[in-house]
Amino acid sequence: MVDVILGLQWGDEGKGKIVDYFAPNYDVVARFQGGPNAGHTLYVGGKKTVLHQIPSGIFHQNTVNIIGNGVVLDPVTLKRECDIVASFGIDVRKNLFISERTNIIVPTHRALDKASELQKGESKIGSTLKGIGPAYMDKTGRNAIRVGDLLDKNFTTQYIKLRLKHQKLLDNFHFIEDISAWEEEFFEALEFLRTLNIVNGEYFINNQIAQGKKVLAEGAQGTMLDIDFGTFPFVTSSNTISAGVCTGLGVSPKQINEVLGVTKAYCTRVGSGPFPTELEDATGEELRKIGSEFGATTGRPRRCGWIDLVALKYTCMINGVTQVVMTKADVLDAFEDLKVCTAYGINGAIKQEVPFQMNKVAIEPQYQNFKGWNIDTTAMKEAANLPAEMSSYIQFINQYIGVPVKYVSNGPGREQIVAL
Ligand code: GDP
Ligand code: IMO
Ligand code: MG
Repeated sequence: MVDVILGLQWGDEGKGKIVDYFAPNYDVVARFQGGPNAGHTLYVGGKKTVLHQIPSGIFHQNTVNIIGNGVVLDPVTLKRECDIVASFGIDVRKNLFISERTNIIVPTHRALDKASELQKGESKIGSTLKGIGPAYMDKTGRNAIRVGDLLDKNFTTQYIKLRLKHQKLLDNFHFIEDISAWEEEFFEALEFLRTLNIVNGEYFINNQIAQGKKVLAEGAQGTMLDIDFGTFPFVTSSNTISAGVCTGLGVSPKQINEVLGVTKAYCTRVGSGPFPTELEDATGEELRKIGSEFGATTGRPRRCGWIDLVALKYTCMINGVTQVVMTKADVLDAFEDLKVCTAYGINGAIKQEVPFQMNKVAIEPQYQNFKGWNIDTTAMKEAANLPAEMSSYIQFINQYIGVPVKYVSNGPGREQIVAL
C-alpha cells in the first residue's frame, strides 16, 4: 500500500514538514520525481534542515528511504546532504537506498540549464539552475547516464560521450564557462555514491509492499508546476502529480491509497509564470515577511497572494486527492481581512476552470471576503480551540474543492499541526 504526499500549488507548500510528521507511521519514504530543485525544510530537534535529494523520512531511524527511478540525482548535492544527515547521527548506509534506474545530473546539465535561461532572456522560466530540464531531456532523449551505470566498467566512456554532446550544444548557445571545478567535485561525489546502497528500485519497493510494509511517496514541486498540467512552459520537467508515483517508483496504480495534498492557506510562487492571485502590494509584502517566503533552494523572494480555489480544485482533481493538509495557517493570524479566489474573470466571462494557457489570457480573480481571526494560533493543539473564523474559512474551502481539509499546520515545528 502506498500513500502519497504532494504539493497542490507551485511548490514550497510545506511538504517536507508534513512528510517528516507522518513518516513514523510508514516503513518506507520514497521520492519519485524532481531533483535538487526541491528544497524541503524540516526542523529536527529544533534545528532547521533543508533536504534537496534525500527523502524527508531520513530522520526517523526505523524508516527506510528510497530515491526512486523518477528522480534526477546530483551526486554532489547528495554527498553534501549525506554529510549533514550524518551529523545528526543518521547512518545513510543503513536506511538510504537509490534505484539503479535513477538518472544522474552531470555538470554540463547545469551549464546547459544556465545557457538556456540566458538565451530565453525576459521569457526565462526562472529555473533553479540545478540542471533539471537538461537532465530530463537526456532521459526522454535516451542519452542519460543512470546510477546503475556507475557500476559498469565503461562508465567513463559513457560520460565522455555525453559531455561531448553537451559541449556541442553549449557551443551553439555561445556559452563559455569553466566547469573543471564542478567536474572534479562530481567525480569525487561519484566515488561516494558508489559506496551507497544501489538497488533495483522497483523490486525493492514491490517486495516491501508484498511484505505488508507501508510506503509514503513524497512529491517535490507542486501540481501547478507539473510538466503536463502546470502553467506550461513555466513548469518543471517532471510529472509532479500522483500518477508520477507509479512511473517514478515502479508501483501499480492499484497500490495507491490515500493522496494527501498539501496547500498553503494562501499562495506563493517562485520563478516566472502566471499567478492570478498574486499581490504586488503591501499585503503581498506582509505575507512574504510574516511567512518568511524566501526560497529554500535559491533564497529568492517568493511571490505571494491569496489562495486560489479554482487552481486548488483543479489540482485536487488531477491527483485524486483524498485529504488536504493546510499549512502556514498561522501566517494569516495577523490579517484582519482575508480573500479567497473563487472564479476567474476572462474576457468578461466568469470561469471556474483553469484555462489552457494562463499566461496568454488576462485573468481577473473574483474574490470572496473573509474576516480574519487575529489571534495567535501557533500553540493550538486541538481542533476545538481553533478560532471560529478559521473554521469558517476552512469549511468554505472544503465545500468549494469537494475534499476535506484534515490537518492544519500552525507553525514550522514538527508538533505544530492540528488534526481536524
Ligand atoms: P516544501 O518545499 O513544500 O517542503 O516547503 P519549503 O520547505 O520549501 O517551504 C515551506 C516553509 O514554510 C519552510 O520554511 C517551513 O519551515 C515553513 N513551514 C511549514 N509549515 C509551516 C506552518 O504551518 N507555519 C509556518 N509559519 N511555517 C511553516
Ligand atoms: P519544492 O519541492 C518551488 C520552480 C522554479 C521555476 C520552475 C522550473 O521545494 O516545492 P526547474 O529548476 O525545475 O527547472 O525550475 O519551477 N521550482 C520550484 N518552485 N518549489 C520547488 O520545489 C521548485 N522546484 C522548481 O522556481 O519556476
Ligand atoms: Mg521547497
